[in-house]
Amino acid sequence: MGINLWGPLKPIETAGAPGHGQSLKKTLSWPHLIALGIGAIVGTGIYTLTGVGADRAGPAVLLAFAIAGAVCACAALAYAEMATLIPTAGSAYTYTYSVIGEAVAWVVGWSLILEYSLACSTVAVGWAAYLVGWLESIGLHLPPLLLAGPHGGGIINLPAVLVALSIAGLLMAGTRESATFNIILVIIKISALAAFVFMALPAFNGANMTPFMPYGFGSVADEGGVTRGVMAAAAIVFFAFYGFDAVATSAEEAKNPGRDLTIGIVGSMAACVLIYMLVALSAIGAVHYTEVAKSSEPLAYVLRTLNHPFAAWAVGIAALIALPSVILVMMYGQSRIFFVMARDGLLPRKLSEVSPRTGSPLLITAITGVFVAAVAGFFRLDEIAELANAGTLIAFIAVAASMMVLRVKRPDLQRVFKCPLPFVVGTLAIVGCLYLLLSLPDKTLIRFVGWNVLGVLVYLAYGRTRSVVKRQAAAAAAE
Ligand code: ALA
Repeated sequence: MGINLWGPLKPIETAGAPGHGQSLKKTLSWPHLIALGIGAIVGTGIYTLTGVGADRAGPAVLLAFAIAGAVCACAALAYAEMATLIPTAGSAYTYTYSVIGEAVAWVVGWSLILEYSLACSTVAVGWAAYLVGWLESIGLHLPPLLLAGPHGGGIINLPAVLVALSIAGLLMAGTRESATFNIILVIIKISALAAFVFMALPAFNGANMTPFMPYGFGSVADEGGVTRGVMAAAAIVFFAFYGFDAVATSAEEAKNPGRDLTIGIVGSMAACVLIYMLVALSAIGAVHYTEVAKSSEPLAYVLRTLNHPFAAWAVGIAALIALPSVILVMMYGQSRIFFVMARDGLLPRKLSEVSPRTGSPLLITAITGVFVAAVAGFFRLDEIAELANAGTLIAFIAVAASMMVLRVKRPDLQRVFKCPLPFVVGTLAIVGCLYLLLSLPDKTLIRFVGWNVLGVLVYLAYGRTRSVVKRQAAAAAAE
C-alpha cells in the first residue's frame, strides 16, 4: 500500500478486487467488446459533427479527422496496455489511482463522469435532429417548441430527453441483453455508412475541395465568437473517435480480459479511422461544405441534395435505430465509473449496490439517465460535445502518463499487451491531447475548470475522509 504526493495509491495487484456482493458478472467476450467499441465510437461524431467540423475548418475537416484520429490512436494503445494490466471497471480513473494517486484519480474520475454523460447527451441531441429530419421527409411535423431548448427558440428537446431515458431503462434491465442487442445496431450503423459512401462518392467534385483550408490551421475565434480553423474542428470531431475507452471500462466483465480487450480496443479503433475518412471525403466532396455545415443531419441532407431521397430516408432510419447504441455504451461506461468510485468510498456506497437480478447498478444508472436527459433537453449540441471532449482529453492524458510512469516504476509487471515505443507514443498522446484541449473555445475551458472546482470541493467534503484505500493504508500502518 503506497502513499505519495497525490494521496494513497490503490495497489495494482488488488485494484480489481471488489468487496463482497459488489462484483460485476463476467458476461462479455471479444465480439461483444468489438461491438461495444464500434457501438460507442461510430455515432453522432460522424453522423452529425461532420457538419459542425466543416463549418469550423471547411474541406480541411478531413485533416481534422486525421489529426484527432492519430491522437486517439496513440491514446488507444496506452489504454490497451493499461486495460490489460488492470482489467477492472473504472478505466482511466482506476489506472490513475494505482499509478499516480487518489487526488489525481478523483479529478480523472470526475472528468470521466462529464465525458460519458455529456457524450450521451450529445448523441441524444444528434439523434433527435435525425428524427425530426426523417419525420419531415415523410410529411410529419412536430411542434417546434418541443424540438429545441431555449437556445434554439424552443422549450425543450423532447425527443432527445425521451431517447436518453429509454436507454437508461434498457441498461437497468441488464448488461447481457443490452450488449447483444448492441451487436445488431452496430451492423445497421456500419451498413448505412457504407451505403452513404457508395451513393455519395461517385458525385465527388474536386471544386468542392478548394480552398481546402479557408480558416487556416490554428484555432482562432472569429468576430462572431465562433472558434475556427483545422484545430478547432479537430477539437470537436475528436468526439467521433472516443468510445473505445468504454471497452476498457468494461474490463471487469470480460471473460478473458488479456486477449479480448486488446482485440476490442485496437480493432474497433482502426476500423473507425478508415470509415470516417471515407465518409467525410464523400460528404464534403459531393456537396459544398457551406451547405453540409448548415444541416443538423448532414448525411441525410447530402443524399437528399444528390437526389437520392430513398437513400436519405434509409440512412436516416439507420441513424435513428443505431445511434442509441452509442448512448447505451457510454451510459454503461458512465454508470461503471460511478460504481467504482462509490465502491472505493469516494462517493456514497449506496450508489455501488448491484441488483442481484440484473447484475447492474440500478440507482446510479437511473441518476445518470436523468442527468443525461436534462442536459440533452436544454443545451446546444456543439457546446455539449466540446465539454465532453475536454473531460475525455484529461482522461487520455492521465492514461498515457500512467502507462509511462508504470513502465518506469514497475518494469517487472507482466504486460499482456505492450504499447509499441511506449515513451514516444505516450508523449505524442499527451502533447496531442493538450493541443486539442487548448484548441477548444475559451468558454468550454472555463466551464470545464468550473466543473472540476466543484469536483475538488466534493472530494474535500466527502471522499477524502471516506476513502477505502486510505483507511486500508492507515490500518496497515497501525499494525
Ligand atoms: N464517438 C462517439 C460518437 O461519435 C461518442 O458518437
